[in-house]
Amino acid sequence: MTADPVLDLRDVHKAFGRNRVLRGVDLAIRPGETFTILGGSGSGKSVCLKHMIGLMKPDSGQIFAFGEDITSASERALVGVRKNASMIFQSAALFDSLNVFENIAYPLREHRDWDEDRVSARVGECLEAVGLDGVEMIMPAELSGGMRKRVGVARGIALEPAAILYDEPTTGLDPANQRRIGELIRSLQQRLGVTSVIVTHELELCFAISDRVALLKRGRIAAMGSAREMQDSENPDVVSFLAGVHQQTDDESGAAPEGDSDGK
Ligand SMILES: Nc1ncnc2c1ncn2[C@@H]1O[C@H](COP(=O)(O)OP(=O)(O)OP(=O)(O)O)[C@@H](O)[C@H]1O
Ligand SMILES: [Mg+2]
Repeated sequence: MTADPVLDLRDVHKAFGRNRVLRGVDLAIRPGETFTILGGSGSGKSVCLKHMIGLMKPDSGQIFAFGEDITSASERALVGVRKNASMIFQSAALFDSLNVFENIAYPLREHRDWDEDRVSARVGECLEAVGLDGVEMIMPAELSGGMRKRVGVARGIALEPAAILYDEPTTGLDPANQRRIGELIRSLQQRLGVTSVIVTHELELCFAISDRVALLKRGRIAAMGSAREMQDSENPDVVSFLAGVHQQTDDESGAAPEGDSDGK
């Protein structure tokens, strides 16, 4: 009864030099779910997201997006995937030389053969969806952190992707803006059936919006379950992460005190 996964990492390994970041990650994201990846800083969360849309290639293992094997797909073959799965980067990477309108119009101009009126209407809809209006002519440098994140989301939804990958969507925001982003992610899922994959350190956000949660540790998925199961979990990795005693620095090098049997 479980539908085919939308995004699927199978036994993915990735090292940068001697730094073995992913050591056999299995993650199958189901259609329409809101899935959160938790993990300490440097545990490989962003690297996981980048593999999901072919921005990084694994050393071994397989990656499927929308049922298609993209493990070694060319940039050209990935264009379709990136239209269907949009990634909202940790830094809300807006084009600083373009105003808000042009930032959101950018993917539309790249991928749609639309006239100006249609582009303009869609930009308006996207801004409305993130609760911003009247900011079209503002330059990114003049936006607050929360607004930048929301403009990043507006651009991310412009092409009506089937899946959205959010890398730390609320980091650095005040609680009100954090809540607003959380509600936005949830409402996109409910209104449009969007599949969402979120990477975050924010436990409150995670448990407020996620259907399922995974903990990435020592290069693998150490635990996975519903938000409730994870909150109630007795798995020592989950307990220690939730208690906030996770390593703040890179613990994927094998130097972590809890001991890593497969070393470096
Ligand atoms: N392009 C790259 N080249 C070399 N090393 C990289 C590259 N990208 C990531 N890494 C390394 O991989 C490890 C995991 O990085 P990643 O960005 O996925 O961490 P993260 O879990 O997203 O951390 P944070 O919560 O701080 O964003 C880090 O040690 C990082 O230095
Ligand atoms: Mg990251």
